[in-house]
Amino acid sequence: MLEDMNINDIVGEYKQITLDLYAIGARKFFYTEIETPYPEGKIIVSTSDTKGVITHVNHVFVEMSGYTKKELLGKNHAILRHPDMPKMPFKELWDTIQSGKKWQGIIKNLRKDGGYYWVKATVIPNIKNGVIVGYTSVRRKPSALVVAEFIKRYPTLRGSK
Ligand SMILES: Cc1cc2nc3c(=O)[nH]c(=O)nc-3n(C[C@H](O)[C@H](O)[C@H](O)COP(=O)(O)O)c2cc1C
Repeated sequence: MLEDMNINDIVGEYKQITLDLYAIGARKFFYTEIETPYPEGKIIVSTSDTKGVITHVNHVFVEMSGYTKKELLGKNHAILRHPDMPKMPFKELWDTIQSGKKWQGIIKNLRKDGGYYWVKATVIPNIKNGVIVGYTSVRRKPSALVVAEFIKRYPTLRGSK
């Protein structure tokens, strides 16, 4: 369970929606149309346990998400889930990494302040003695062309499979 977003954290004009999510249950979202551009040359890194619960973040993760490190550790990565994202890429992500393979995709992430940022994410399983013990995710700046393609596709898919 993840608590609702806090209206006092939101910066700018916002929309509101409640979504019932697989990993976190029902959550009230506040989100704006304000984009934080992905910083040139920076890499966002995090690790999780087998359920996607955050176990490590680097400082770029903290900066881009708008949360403090303390707020992030112990929370599911779904804290970053943007309401515009369809379910399908996340199902594909979990099916892929749980089978021990690497997943790559484009994700629109939600900030604590209701804004968003696009990432090109790679998630890899961490395997010890043949057993998946957690996952590592590395995000880079996506190309503007690829993001434009996903903007066309993703918002229309909200709530779909
Ligand atoms: C290592 C790792 C990194 C992840 N990074 C993100 C992320 O940046 N943004 C995101 O929305 N979900 C991310 N997820 C997936 C979430 O755990 C979750 O599945 C997703 O937000 C969709 O929520 P749902 O499964 O409740 O539908 C990540 C999962 C793992 C294992």
